[in-house]
Amino acid sequence: MANLFRQIREERGLFKDESALLPDFLPEELPGREREMRELAFCLKPAAEGSQPRHAALVGPPGTGKTSSARLVLKHLCEYSSRPLAIYINCWEIPSRFGVLSAIADALGEPMPRRGIAADEIFLRVVEIAKKEGRVPVIVLDEADRLVAQPGGEKVLYDLCRAGEVQSLKTGVVAIANDESFSAKLDARIRSSFPQSVLSFKPYSMPQLKEIAGQRARLAFFESAVHPDVVPLCAAIAYKNGGDARLALSLLFSAGKIAERENASCVNVSHVRQAQPSAIPASKTKAERAVFGMDALDQEIVKAVKEAGKGGIESGRLYQLLSGIAKERAIRGRIKRLEESGVLSCQDMQLKHGRSRMIRLKEPK
Ligand SMILES: Nc1ncnc2c1ncn2[C@@H]1O[C@H](COP(=O)(O)OP(=O)(O)OP(=O)(O)O)[C@@H](O)[C@H]1O
Ligand SMILES: [Mg+2]
Repeated sequence: MANLFRQIREERGLFKDESALLPDFLPEELPGREREMRELAFCLKPAAEGSQPRHAALVGPPGTGKTSSARLVLKHLCEYSSRPLAIYINCWEIPSRFGVLSAIADALGEPMPRRGIAADEIFLRVVEIAKKEGRVPVIVLDEADRLVAQPGGEKVLYDLCRAGEVQSLKTGVVAIANDESFSAKLDARIRSSFPQSVLSFKPYSMPQLKEIAGQRARLAFFESAVHPDVVPLCAAIAYKNGGDARLALSLLFSAGKIAERENASCVNVSHVRQAQPSAIPASKTKAERAVFGMDALDQEIVKAVKEAGKGGIESGRLYQLLSGIAKERAIRGRIKRLEESGVLSCQDMQLKHGRSRMIRLKEPK
């Protein structure tokens, strides 16, 4: 009998390289983001010369290429010069000043103990090592809204910016957030020590989404494995849902999987339509993508809110549901943080016997 897996591949081979549609894939080109990337490169260029880079904040809705642009610019920067030390931190995974400073120490090759050491001490070590090595750390704080929503979290921005003034260490910070007013919401003292270029990422237009989806379809599928109407349809759905490139790519991927399962000779419009209901929610709420970075209590809260459906859940009811695992005060604090991180939205309500809040999963604008 011929090898079963080879048979399956030959029979159903639509994908040439499906990794090109997975979330971590970084393409060589980002159509529609040339200007933003050049601007960021201008900000960071001094790092290649051992001088002080300009800090930057990249803001905009989900799926507009902020993370990818930052990663690609950093890749070019490190190919160009060995001076900068690029450090990428996802603040959903590392949401504290202590954690961020420890991650920088790790990247400098000096891992710090996880206990028995104060954040201030780690900071001084980081400064000392980076200066000794003559490196310019360029730190991307992705999902920075999550960091600043944490008590004391935003102080790390202050640390990194003041490092230059007080300790004469050169560092560049690239903060990425969904909230357009991210910078304006920073504490006044931190804002004044974090002068930054704000690069605003707008939702993609229909032609841009077509180009992005077309580029990835060419990488991911064999030639003629995709019907010509498929890319325009994925782009149109993504355009209607906030100009989100992630959605266009997730539709392409799911449609490809459905086509394979059906043993179809190519991906067609009906596969995209079948993929649509599952692809949209999967890419839509930050809560669902961020769930891995949350601790158990955050996850329970998000789960309960999600199960309550579109109408949301009343805060009193949520406290009651979770009373077995946490106190009301703790839950209230977490809800506030999840709201500030763009996961939940809360609305005040007047009830017969006082005030309450209605809590929902936040949908993108
Ligand atoms: N201009 C582009 N060209 C090619 N692919 C793109 C482009 N913009 C985004 N993508 C793709 O879309 C997906 C989402 O992009 P990215 O993660 O950069 O968005 P984001 O703005 O960081 O979103 P979020 O705010 O949700 O984190 C990625 O798979 C990325 O490869
Ligand atoms: Mg991102």
